[in-house]
Amino acid sequence: MKVLLAKTAGFCFGVKRAVDTVYQQVEENKDCKIYTFGPIIHNDEVIKDMQAKGVTVLEGEEDLPKAKNGIVIIRSHGVPKRICDRMDELGIQYVDATCPFVKKIHKIAMEKAEEGAFLVVIGNPVHPEVEGIMGWAGEDAAVISTAEEAEHLTVPEDRKICVVAQTTFNYNKFKELVEIISKRRYDISVLNTICSATKERQTETARIADRVDAMIVIGDKRSSNTQKLFEICKNACNNTYYIQTLDDLNVNQLRSVETVGITAGASTPNKIIEEVQKNVRINF
Ligand code: F3S
Repeated sequence: MKVLLAKTAGFCFGVKRAVDTVYQQVEENKDCKIYTFGPIIHNDEVIKDMQAKGVTVLEGEEDLPKAKNGIVIIRSHGVPKRICDRMDELGIQYVDATCPFVKKIHKIAMEKAEEGAFLVVIGNPVHPEVEGIMGWAGEDAAVISTAEEAEHLTVPEDRKICVVAQTTFNYNKFKELVEIISKRRYDISVLNTICSATKERQTETARIADRVDAMIVIGDKRSSNTQKLFEICKNACNNTYYIQTLDDLNVNQLRSVETVGITAGASTPNKIIEEVQKNVRINF
């Protein structure tokens, strides 16, 4: 069997940086408790490993007082401004591991709010990254994710509109929604803030899925970018399997295939990708 492994599979720059920050803080602060604000990434394996090293996940704002004597790490998704303000108020030490590409969107959101523009975020409203962006955008920003929402978007006529995207949003969908808004309003500025890591991973994945008999997508079920990879693969290759670890791989499904492609989401550790790849190569 021929195995094609995507070069872009696995941790992106921002996730690697956040994960490394946690391990580095654990090493450097042995007498101090380390917390992460929410799970550092959407991957149970990594979270379990961190917990074993004494790292505690704070579930939300209400948990912050628990971390008064520790160090809180902000994950790559970023947080709303009020969380940083609250930590300052409580005198909590924190390390900001927000991905620089996300931080750039926070900056745009703040600047546009100051200019009086109306920010439209194209993304998933309940994703922590989008919640974080909204938390830097002033009072009346909006999140949209569907054509219908773009059609019904209401922004006061005297406000300029600035459109940004969740970093992991699908580029074609983003273009479609921007076109809808552009038809209704002239005074819009569009900043494509989709991260190139995501686009490159999606493009490479689509190219591989087109050429193989079966496709394996590795990633946590809650990871939005892995879910999108799965959709892309499923469109190109009906034999697509979404697994979290090697344990989920049903070897019988791959018995009759000649070529198999492997890709993985941005929060999938290399160790898991290697295991799956090795297993597929050895067993078939
Ligand atoms: Fe950052 Fe892009 Fe990853 S925004 S967290 S490098 S997907």
